[in-house]
Amino acid sequence: MHAVQYSAYGKGAATLQHVEVPIPIPKKGEVLVRVEAVGINPIDYKIQGGMLRPFVPKRFPHIPCSDIAGEVVELGYGVAKFKKGDKIVAMLGSATGGGLAEYAVVREEMMVRKPYEISAIECAGLGTPALTAYQCLITAGVKLDKTGPSMNVLVTAASGGVGHYAVQLAKLGNTHVTATCGARNAAFVRSLGADEILDYKTPEGKALISPSGRKYDAVVHCTTGVSWSTFNKVLSPTGKVVDITPSPSALATFAMKKFTCSKKQLIPLFVSSKAEDLEFLVKMMKEKKLKTVVDSRYHLSKAENAWAKCIEGHAVGKIIVGV
Ligand SMILES: NC(=O)c1ccc[n+]([C@@H]2O[C@H](COP(=O)([O-])OP(=O)(O)OC[C@H]3O[C@@H](n4cnc5c(N)ncnc54)[C@H](OP(=O)(O)O)[C@@H]3O)[C@@H](O)[C@H]2O)c1
Repeated sequence: MHAVQYSAYGKGAATLQHVEVPIPIPKKGEVLVRVEAVGINPIDYKIQGGMLRPFVPKRFPHIPCSDIAGEVVELGYGVAKFKKGDKIVAMLGSATGGGLAEYAVVREEMMVRKPYEISAIECAGLGTPALTAYQCLITAGVKLDKTGPSMNVLVTAASGGVGHYAVQLAKLGNTHVTATCGARNAAFVRSLGADEILDYKTPEGKALISPSGRKYDAVVHCTTGVSWSTFNKVLSPTGKVVDITPSPSALATFAMKKFTCSKKQLIPLFVSSKAEDLEFLVKMMKEKKLKTVVDSRYHLSKAENAWAKCIEGHAVGKIIVGV
């Protein structure tokens, strides 16, 4: 099969290699999936850059990427919930990878059925970023069925992969959503449901000051370089910041807030691949309450262009590779 891999740590699309490798064989509890689409995420090039070295990747060469949609073509021993021909959405886990190829093996419990109404391209976006957005909101106490109290939510980098799902999911709750993005993306982020926009390049944007003067009960923080003193000024008395790219100082703040039993909290979050969460997101998509906005789409033969685009850091929605 055709696959895209790298053989050493190092940043850059130029080091990706197009190779022909044997189709993997599903073991007990695994299925073989013919990959139709793959979502590209910043963690993919960060792992290549050595962010999790020496633990991830476990070995070289490594076929990267976690988030796929495709069709089950073979079953390993003991697989009960799926059959050949099922269309699925899966999150392989960034550490395991294996997605940027014509075929991938997936553990049965890491995948859910894809409704026929939604394309593989849309579903491949979901895995890491939509799960992260969802888990951030739940961690911050937002109820997505409008049963919770009214909450002011801030989403930073709302135009990106995680942020664009976070705005849409937050609006499923009883929320007022403030979103930061660049001026060029303001109309786009509003179209996702954001109630007010902050241009991150303005002084108010840098200070995260809500145009309507609101204090935030929950923050889905998808960017870097914001200090706790900035958050402290704009949080409600029980406000929670869920930080998906926590710096060492953010981790220290987290520990300090825990230790002092502070009502304002900073919570680092690392996405966990839970099939029930993925199931919920697919359901929301089927009900047209959630969509993937595709920034750009590339064929597997041009995967290095998708990789380079992700490294640039200016995606609006998701970068997808079609296979
Ligand atoms: N902890 C976890 O489990 C987890 C999971 C997923 C992602 N992450 C991390 O979360 C981060 C975001 O991921 P992503 O997939 O959303 O990235 P992404 O799609 O690459 O984000 C790009 C978007 O962010 C915007 N942006 C950049 N800097 C900004 C700023 N200071 N303020 C407002 N908007 C800004 C860009 O807009 P402009 O073009 O206008 O600059 C662009 O639209 C990455 O660092 C990723 O590694 C962590």
